[in-house]
Amino acid sequence: MKKIKTLQCIHCGKDHKLSETEYNCTACGGNLQVIYDYNLIKKRLNYEVLQENWDRSIWRYAELLPLPNLKHVPPVQIGWTPLYRAEKLGQTINVPNLFVKDDGRNPSASFKDRANAIVVARAMDQKEKVITTASTGNAASSLACLTGNLDISTVIFMPENAPPAKIAQVLVFGATVILVKGNYDDAFDLCLKASREYGWYNRSTGYNPFTREGKKTCAFEICEQMKWEVPDKVVVPVGDGNIISGIWKGFVEFQNLDIIEKLPQLVAVQAEGSDAVKRACESGSDIQAVSGKTLADSISVCVPRDGQAAVSAIKDSGGFAVSVTDEEIIAAIPELARGSNVFAEPAGASSWAGLKKAAAQGLVRENESVVLLVTGSGLKDVGAAMKSVGKPHVIKPDLGELKKLVAGLKLPA
Ligand SMILES: Cc1ncc(COP(=O)(O)O)c(C=O)c1O
Ligand SMILES: [Zn+2]
Repeated sequence: MKKIKTLQCIHCGKDHKLSETEYNCTACGGNLQVIYDYNLIKKRLNYEVLQENWDRSIWRYAELLPLPNLKHVPPVQIGWTPLYRAEKLGQTINVPNLFVKDDGRNPSASFKDRANAIVVARAMDQKEKVITTASTGNAASSLACLTGNLDISTVIFMPENAPPAKIAQVLVFGATVILVKGNYDDAFDLCLKASREYGWYNRSTGYNPFTREGKKTCAFEICEQMKWEVPDKVVVPVGDGNIISGIWKGFVEFQNLDIIEKLPQLVAVQAEGSDAVKRACESGSDIQAVSGKTLADSISVCVPRDGQAAVSAIKDSGGFAVSVTDEEIIAAIPELARGSNVFAEPAGASSWAGLKKAAAQGLVRENESVVLLVTGSGLKDVGAAMKSVGKPHVIKPDLGELKKLVAGLKLPA
């Protein structure tokens, strides 16, 4: 592919041809980054071309994606998720210029469809027979969703305690599900061994360089949906760190193409027990393992697999990281739902919990525009959602009983 200049190691800088490696750096094992010939792409993708493009999905950015053609595009709509103005919610923390990007509106109800659309198309281009991934749950349900109708077998490695709805999605779409007695990191390591043993195509986050390429499309959409007024801050939930490094790459690439001038600051939100990226940002040292313990399953990670790229993205953007407790994440679910009409899973709602904390610490100014990224639907983890609210009323189907109940409720007359 002429438009791809190199796969560059983010650790040692070594350049690789596309044919040279599918995954990591051949010299140091570091993660790779796809670098394009931006002068070439500039001629094909610019502000005017985008204005005239009617496609409302990630494929409107095909020129900036690592695929030779769009032969294997899934038949469902990926990306171009809604960006809502959430002024009332923002006013509660004195940040009225608040927007919510609802990526729970993707086909499998999470952000992960952006990444998998690219990786699945690449696997099909290469005529792979088996595709595998480790996942806390969403990458798995997305991969199963996007391969369900294809002539490729899908093998999923998930931690045993993944939320039932995510396991149900994978099973419904027909993938093979292997629940690993351990955490996400254990599932990751076993998936890697399996892909090496059997030659399966491995899509795991922070290993396959193409996931970031799909994830960056969210940044492109934010630029367009904000009518090219790049926000001051983008708030992103962080586990492995692949979403946030993808978002950063997207903004930087639009700047490389002279489509935007300004770049936003990134605010990374992590759960307190799973805050390896935040610690590395603040200490200046390498990523160190943490317990990974949080009820926000999607961001529960001991060793972030794209941690280095995440730390660089946060630093390069002039942003920062915050951590939030599980209690704050749970409380954020109904607050976000009632304030913005968006029902998020715990990891998705953590961005609101993090923004609240950052605002309380004086890290966000009143006049700043802020985009809150909601990465997964609340229907993914109803058990966690139920912890955030009271119990419903249960009565016999009888008007008398209803009247007794209503008398005790504070409803307007
Ligand atoms: C809903 C949701 N939010 C956030 C994340 C974190 O993304 P990353 O692991 O790339 O930091 C994930 C990843 O699984 C996710 O599914
Ligand atoms: Zn390297």
